[in-house]
Amino acid sequence: MKIAIAGTGYVGLVTGVCLAEVGNPNVVCVDIDERKIERMKSGISPIYEDGLEELMIKNYELDRIDYTTDYKSAYKDADVIMIAVGTPERSDGSANLDYIKAVAKQVAQTITKDTLVVIKSTVPIGTNDEIEKYIRKNLVNDVKVELASNPEFLSQGTAVKDTLHASRIVVGVESEWAKDILEKVYSPFNQPIVVTNRNSAEMIKYASNDFLALKISFMNDIANLCEIVGANIEDVAKGMSYDDRIGDKFLKAGIGYGGSCFPKDTKALHWLSNYNGYELKTVKAAIEVNEAQKLKLVRQASKLIDSFNGLKVAVLGLTFKPETDDLREAPSIPNIKYLIERGANVVAYDPIGIENTKKIFKDTISYTESIDEAIEGAEICFIMTEWKDIVNYDLSKYKNKMKRALLFDGRNCYRLDDMKNLGIEYYSIGR
Ligand code: UDX
Repeated sequence: MKIAIAGTGYVGLVTGVCLAEVGNPNVVCVDIDERKIERMKSGISPIYEDGLEELMIKNYELDRIDYTTDYKSAYKDADVIMIAVGTPERSDGSANLDYIKAVAKQVAQTITKDTLVVIKSTVPIGTNDEIEKYIRKNLVNDVKVELASNPEFLSQGTAVKDTLHASRIVVGVESEWAKDILEKVYSPFNQPIVVTNRNSAEMIKYASNDFLALKISFMNDIANLCEIVGANIEDVAKGMSYDDRIGDKFLKAGIGYGGSCFPKDTKALHWLSNYNGYELKTVKAAIEVNEAQKLKLVRQASKLIDSFNGLKVAVLGLTFKPETDDLREAPSIPNIKYLIERGANVVAYDPIGIENTKKIFKDTISYTESIDEAIEGAEICFIMTEWKDIVNYDLSKYKNKMKRALLFDGRNCYRLDDMKNLGIEYYSIGR
């Protein structure tokens, strides 16, 4: 079976590499970026993802995977074409399907045999139906084409592990033919396969992401109340977690969720519900709580000082979560903007996110790859991402190196007792 994959971002590339890794002999990843393709052929991943490059090199050497910009040769004789291009947010919150439509057009013009087109990108409910109609209408050759929805649930940073050991594979199909093909594709993974119709599969993806986003926003909301009434959100989360119906994951309060999925997918589903004349109140609440949460600490800090103007402010952790170099929708961004607008001299630290941060803030802030350097002489420090080296940092250094040991921790990295014993002015979330 030949499997072509459109798009080599987190979803496309990881899916392609993992399909090759479980033994598919003919996987080809397509991207429009020539340089990216050349680099991938030499084993260099365009994204930072644990374990990915090893598998890229191994499977390229085994001749099970190839990379190309030549979509015609990739699609024309493929049995399965997986679409894994971006569906970014439009200014009104709706999902932009332009990239999906561009691939659909190429598919319609090139395929020469019966093909199952699988949408892995997160798309509004009804998109598979729409794209199927579009491709059929624009087909150049007399072949059978059908669409299937197969949403992806991998998390950045653990994408390879999440794909090879997924909790489930969701397959949304409208025929036995499509179901059989996808069961064959995924059987080597030995994971539970949930088969639904296409609309339900599309909805499973949004509902899953929005539920997780809501879970985080709920904990952030409760955390804010904990601060007012003198409770500790970590103890509260622990006490809740023993109930199997609640579980112990995604209960961590903090400075808000970011990344390429939760912010986009909450807004997209909210938009879609409004468009259909229904108000999804829970998802709306998740979005609102998250927006407010992101600037919670800088607002709190501004009440404790006269002004940010001219202050050296250290910002530790820039990526939207640890183990990724991705800054999309990272809470660090609005926080740094807030600080710059108020005249602070921001020194930003991150173990691997500096390059991407420079693309956003250019020379408006300073950058360092050392926590020591970031906090040296600083008057305030904000923690935005719980990188291991930040969590394990020698706390006495905050006291010794900072001009004023005033620390705002958006990820609850440290114990309250430790900070109290060291005499550090310490503010965290919900405790
Ligand atoms: C998410 C989903 O987990 C994944 O299933 C989906 O396919 C894509 O979106 P990802 O964006 O990679 O994955 O990151 P995730 O680990 O889910 O974290 C998202 C954000 O939530 C981060 O900013 C993280 O800091 C925050 N978060 C997560 C919390 O604030 N508290 C938590 O308890 C968990």
